[in-house]
Amino acid sequence: MPSATSLDVTAIRKDFPILAQQVYGKPLIYLDNAATSQKPQCVIDTLTRFYKTDNANIHRGVHALSERSTLSYEAARGKVQRFLNAADTREIIFVRGATEAINLVGQTYGRTHVSAGDEIVISAMEHHSNIVPWQMLCEEKGAVLRVIPINDRGELEFDQFEKLLNNRTRLVAVSHVSNALGTINPVRGIIRAAHAWNVPVLIDGAQAVPHMKVDVRSLDCDFYVFSGHKVFGPTGIGVLYGKEKLLEAMPPWQGGGDMIQSVTFGKTTYNDLPYKFEAGTPNIAGVIGLGAAIDYLDQIGMDAIEAHEQELLAYGTRELESITGLRLIGTAREKASVLSFVIEGVHPHDAATILDREGVAVRAGHHCAQPVMERFGVSATTRASLAFYNTTEDIDALVAGIQKVREIFAA
Ligand code: ALA
Repeated sequence: MPSATSLDVTAIRKDFPILAQQVYGKPLIYLDNAATSQKPQCVIDTLTRFYKTDNANIHRGVHALSERSTLSYEAARGKVQRFLNAADTREIIFVRGATEAINLVGQTYGRTHVSAGDEIVISAMEHHSNIVPWQMLCEEKGAVLRVIPINDRGELEFDQFEKLLNNRTRLVAVSHVSNALGTINPVRGIIRAAHAWNVPVLIDGAQAVPHMKVDVRSLDCDFYVFSGHKVFGPTGIGVLYGKEKLLEAMPPWQGGGDMIQSVTFGKTTYNDLPYKFEAGTPNIAGVIGLGAAIDYLDQIGMDAIEAHEQELLAYGTRELESITGLRLIGTAREKASVLSFVIEGVHPHDAATILDREGVAVRAGHHCAQPVMERFGVSATTRASLAFYNTTEDIDALVAGIQKVREIFAA
């Protein structure tokens, strides 16, 4: 069905060859985009072309291939900078994924700024990747992790957050969009409130960047992280954005080639930004592939993507709410692209397995957010997560699959 918004989803779906297949004799309905999204042909072609014609190490060789490869790698950095509206390419660090970006900040900024008795504030809806690195840091330093509570809809309790801020707070780290609930957090307000205490803010944007326009300068966040594979790029590549002043003052994390200016056994001096944080041969193809994914998204337009997905989310929410015995987990007023649910008397894994046999790919489990499951009194949920290539027919297939689950368990 054509979208009422400006996206030509039928044409868009043709850009994603993987979506055209059948599984178990049924058309694939891919609704596991929060785990990883599919890749358009242009990203696949970019990777193939790179390995076919340009493959060489970057920043090192003087030969033609190395120059081409370096140019493409650095051009991709420029694309990420513009995509996030960062002030400078020096603020864009390529890492393995959002997880590595958070660990980098924890191990560099965190280790130099956090001492015994200091506090780090996160929220009750964080992915494990935005909990465990801070717990590790707190354990090492004798610091304290403070957690912003969430209400029954899965929204942050903002007044409680404000009460957690004090002169021992060293960092606030929160997700832009929750992977388990779909909640869009009021990050602008969070950043403003934290800055009033001179506290920097890291935003985990892994689940936001595929669904909405992100402007790090307008948000005024200090760090912003995301993963390439969730934003229609390759796996194994991610981005740490950091304000230049903060990154400049941070010590390097991993030591090795390319992150140095000079090395003697007596003393090593470090390279300038962003190379100071990119030790060793990076994921060159991954970076260039991510650049191609960003070009593709730019062509479609993030505003059109957001409008289409909001329409789908509203449709899916109405449909799922009308199913007897189904409980949506995460009903925030501001949500993006996630439908997490439990069905009375059915284990979420069983529901996902039956859906899979119907061709509907969803995720079941705790979604690497065990504290969220605990907050809602469930051990797991079944989660359908949307991307701009999904349609109302995909939602209809999900609903039909859920009816089948209910029939099987009623029998
Ligand atoms: N963080 C990914 C998810 O939510 C893997 O599924």
